[in-house]
Amino acid sequence: MKVLLTGAAGFIGTATATALRGVGHEVVPVDALVPQAHARPVTEPEGVHVLDVRQARDWSGLLSGVDVVCHLAAMVGAGVTVCDLPLYAAHNDLGTAALLAAMSESGVSRFVQASSMVVYGEGRYRCPAHGDQSPAPRRVEHLDAGLFDNGCPLCGRLLGWEAVTEDAVLDPRSSYASSKVAQEHYAAAWARQAGASAISLRYHNVYGPGMPRDTPYSGVAAIFRSAMEAGRAPLVFEDGLQMRDFVHVEDVARANVAAVEAVLGRHRGSHTAYNVCSGQPVTILDVARMVTAAAPGSPLPVVSGDYRLGDVRHVVASPARASAELGFTARISPEIGLARFARDPLRA
Ligand code: UD1
Repeated sequence: MKVLLTGAAGFIGTATATALRGVGHEVVPVDALVPQAHARPVTEPEGVHVLDVRQARDWSGLLSGVDVVCHLAAMVGAGVTVCDLPLYAAHNDLGTAALLAAMSESGVSRFVQASSMVVYGEGRYRCPAHGDQSPAPRRVEHLDAGLFDNGCPLCGRLLGWEAVTEDAVLDPRSSYASSKVAQEHYAAAWARQAGASAISLRYHNVYGPGMPRDTPYSGVAAIFRSAMEAGRAPLVFEDGLQMRDFVHVEDVARANVAAVEAVLGRHRGSHTAYNVCSGQPVTILDVARMVTAAAPGSPLPVVSGDYRLGDVRHVVASPARASAELGFTARISPEIGLARFARDPLRA
């Protein structure tokens, strides 16, 4: 198959290009090398077309003969200030819309898109008395008092976390999250209107070799690694007991390949979302412990009790739909992958 891959020079894109080629697909790599994801000065990766998806119409010749577009190019992370909003709207919303239009003009009708667990907002919660509950954003006075867990909106009892499934209500809580929901909605609308088919992959916390170093847009694994390299203790926020699902970049690349292959057989007008996760939830404190334990001599993690206002408490996911419908199951457990991550090379 011929696959046009956007974001091909990035952390997940590089692993995905390797995985696609590894099973015999032809890859047309495209990347805009945006400064937030690539250190300056950038050396253009060999063979990558340095192009911006917002101008996809201008380079639509590259779409000729393409079977599937795998769209990973995006502004990532939580953003620094609200002044980042236009960056998310431009690269993610407009970029996806422009790419989908150019695809239709070129007769390409299969689309796989990188989404994120951030579309869920908070994960799934259950009250022992009142069943499933959707907590509102946490209150500053609670966080200041060290009360990090969500309470039941009906009785105040502590809510327990559960694995979120793809039919959960979407509740984006940042500019990045809003742009990821928009991308999914554009993909679904395009599939219906163009008689095409689309898959959105909701990646959970991705880590592994080639992860960008600590930037305001980095996830926590890169922040912990960068602290260790600088001889500083990883700072664990809240009480460290917040849950996430850490999924290795090689597994994410395999999920992308599975989706690219599956989308060909999907019926016209279909759009389906899948969690891409390990299915093995861990606390953030355990993430810090696993990474530092694998590098003897590293300062031990410190639980700071600080918090970031925009953070959600727990998000963990069910891998069941991806397993049943894409045949994708993660192979690298957090124990093994995070220990390896202590020594994996990062990107500048
Ligand atoms: C992260 C990404 C999000 C992505 C998602 C799925 C960022 C900022 N967030 O969301 O964009 O879609 O994974 O891949 O890239 N923490 C510490 N110490 C630190 C930094 C963070 O303890 O130095 C804690 C945070 O308070 C939070 C947890 O680690 O509880 C995870 O943080 P982070 O990786 O930044 O964000 P996610 O919400 O998991």
